[in-house]
Amino acid sequence: MRNIALTFLSLAFALAAAMPSIADDIVELRPDDPVYVKLGQKIYMDQCASCHGVNLEGQVGWRDTKVDGMRLAPPHDKSGHTWHHSDELLYKLTKYGFEAMIGSEYKVSMPIYDGLLKDEDIIAALSYIKSTWPDDVRQIHDKINADYKLNNAMENSKSGS
Ligand code: HEC
Repeated sequence: MRNIALTFLSLAFALAAAMPSIADDIVELRPDDPVYVKLGQKIYMDQCASCHGVNLEGQVGWRDTKVDGMRLAPPHDKSGHTWHHSDELLYKLTKYGFEAMIGSEYKVSMPIYDGLLKDEDIIAALSYIKSTWPDDVRQIHDKINADYKLNNAMENSKSGS
């Protein structure tokens, strides 16, 4: 009896460990999931707020000031560009960094979070950011995601995969 209970327990642990892992190709932010948003707020405050601001306001002068040839951190609120990018791009940018996304050398102060944060922590932090946007911005962002997915599906069907 004791053994069976133990087996169930270890299976539950294995599942719990496997569940949150999210494949790179199905990234979706969860701004309506209170668990994600709460976790994301903590991660944002720990990891991102030092540059992007505790109120997501960015660094003063971010539009036109450079320090050591590098741009300052932009806001993540309505006044910035974050909401112009799909979930997928925001996630990959945070995880793999600017150089990986642009495909060329790019000097930037932001750390590459691959290996520093778990995938679900990155998604949580970005979900928190999205949860703070007003409804009109969130709706535009949902549309950007829908368009991105449609384009992706069309690309995939063209290449026959
Ligand atoms: C050391 C400072 C620093 C930290 C810490 C930092 N960032 Fe950044 N981040 C930047 C800078 C600087 C840029 C803009 C780079 C550029 O445009 O050249 C940026 C840009 C971004 C962008 C692109 C925004 C846009 O308008 O295109 C995203 C998304 C982002 N950061 C997310 C995050 C997240 C999420 C975290 C925490 C997990 C984080 N950053 C932590 C400095 C930082």
